[in-house]
Amino acid sequence: MQINLNHLIILYTSFPFTMTKAEKLALLEKKNAEALLGGGQQRIDAQHKKGKLTARERIDLLLDAGSFEEIGKFVMHRCKDFGLDKEYYLGDGVVTGYGTIHGRLVYVFSQDFTVFGGSLSETHAEKICKIMDLAMKNGAPVIGLNDSGGARIQEGVMSLGGYADIFYRNTRASGVIPQISAIMGPCAGGAVYSPAITDFIFMVENTSYMFVTGPNVVKTVTHEEVTSEELGGASTHSTKSGVTHFSCANEVACINDIKRLLSFIPQNCEDEPPMLPYQSEDNEIRPQLNDIVPENPNQPYDMKEVIYGIIDEGEEGFFEVHKNFAENIIVGFARVAGRSIGVVGNQPAVLAGVLDINSSVKAARFVRFCDSFNIPLLVLVDVPGFLPGTDQEWHGIITNGAKLLYAFCEATVPRVTVITRKAYGGAYDVMNSKHIGADMNFAWYSAEIAVMGAKGAAEIIFKKEISEAEDPEAKLQEKVEEYTHKFATPYRAAHRGFIDEVIKPEVTRKKLISAFQMLENKVDTLPRKKHGNIPL
Ligand code: HXC
Repeated sequence: MQINLNHLIILYTSFPFTMTKAEKLALLEKKNAEALLGGGQQRIDAQHKKGKLTARERIDLLLDAGSFEEIGKFVMHRCKDFGLDKEYYLGDGVVTGYGTIHGRLVYVFSQDFTVFGGSLSETHAEKICKIMDLAMKNGAPVIGLNDSGGARIQEGVMSLGGYADIFYRNTRASGVIPQISAIMGPCAGGAVYSPAITDFIFMVENTSYMFVTGPNVVKTVTHEEVTSEELGGASTHSTKSGVTHFSCANEVACINDIKRLLSFIPQNCEDEPPMLPYQSEDNEIRPQLNDIVPENPNQPYDMKEVIYGIIDEGEEGFFEVHKNFAENIIVGFARVAGRSIGVVGNQPAVLAGVLDINSSVKAARFVRFCDSFNIPLLVLVDVPGFLPGTDQEWHGIITNGAKLLYAFCEATVPRVTVITRKAYGGAYDVMNSKHIGADMNFAWYSAEIAVMGAKGAAEIIFKKEISEAEDPEAKLQEKVEEYTHKFATPYRAAHRGFIDEVIKPEVTRKKLISAFQMLENKVDTLPRKKHGNIPL
């Protein structure tokens, strides 16, 4: 290669020294100001008009005041095709960096819709990967604020490669550092798979949507007419698909919820969850718990009342996850004596608390998150069994129910169970029974632990006796009572040691405080393996 020495000398002598120091400073300030404006004031105004905040405004709300340190502010795209050689924006459509939330380090990327619709270019992806790599090396959560038109169309495979680089890191980071995605605008096509791999998705109502293929493609392929909101809005994904864990009324509420979630979880898999100071004079006996389970075993009640009665701060203290999806099971974070715990509870007020496909998958994912990040588990049981029917069987209740079983079996965090009423059949085993590794198992004196309900059991085992009786109905009743008396109690299980203590509801909180404290230094390890093969 020929080097033109004259040219080099001119470059070297003229460019750096023709600017005064003041001019150089002015250039830096100009570039800083330019970067802050993203795609320009007009596009910022358009963003506000849609009821959306800008990428930088979101970061300001999310992080402790003055804590944000930006990385890659002046990065620009490299592609020169389709007019991209004439249009450049500093930062290239994503603001990345680190800062603190309640004094704890987090890494954040916030897509800037004002720059090419927040679309992901090769360099945009590199910026995200850079902070993900830093987060992994330094053991702190990554929060992604997504607002993007997807792959930067002009860049073709460079953009697709950028997505794959992110997916790869999402997967490598899974279970090592918490990863949180907030969807605050469009998130379509393959772009949805990064949030899907992360631990929690938040969506903002009416301004965000997620789908693999949009309404136009849907119409062409399936002839269905559907709006973006119906297809993939926050309401759809929080109730129908379960894709999002949280549906937030607006962006401010969304950001506040992210901060609240972080308050329960550790920085990484080697860390412990934050512990709040606890005053032991707090009344540990909670008589209100005595009146929750009705006399009639078939009458529903709200398991959330039990949760509020047990945890610190009552209703305010419960941070529910997947609130509107598969409501027959409840999952969420809470504190007991200042200690962060994950709560899983059957909900007798919805479908009698039965386990079905959605509730099994919902709870399994939550249990695995808690186990990955050292968060002890409290499991509240009132379950009549698995939901029967062709719909469930044909859609794989076997495989999906096994997910929850597997998740509990492999969990090594402290695990405490309280059976409040029914624990029937396979669901007894699945719901954190002693046999699958629970550490402490309590039952309220109202508990019924048996293979099946008394009527069904009596009809099967006393079939002949009942059919031959003079009054079959009376005989059935007699046998139901006999079975109930013998088996629909917690005592058979307690005699065997499957239940450690049968208790009055009012002492539950006291027992749990003591149990979780006792289990504080629990060490349990899985057999050496590459990874398990959870039934997917
Ligand atoms: C480049 C894009 C862009 C994109 C939007 N823009 N999407 N530029 N690549 N993907 C630009 C627009 O040209 C426009 O530029 C600005 O962003 C705002 O877009 P508007 O269309 O004016 O905004 P709005 O009406 O709000 O519509 C937003 C939108 C729409 C619904 C996201 O822009 C849209 O449909 N974009 C294309 C979406 C898409 O098909 N993406 C590729 C998906 S495939 P100006 O200069 O006017 O401000 C994919 C594969 C990933 O992502 C695979 C990973 C495995």
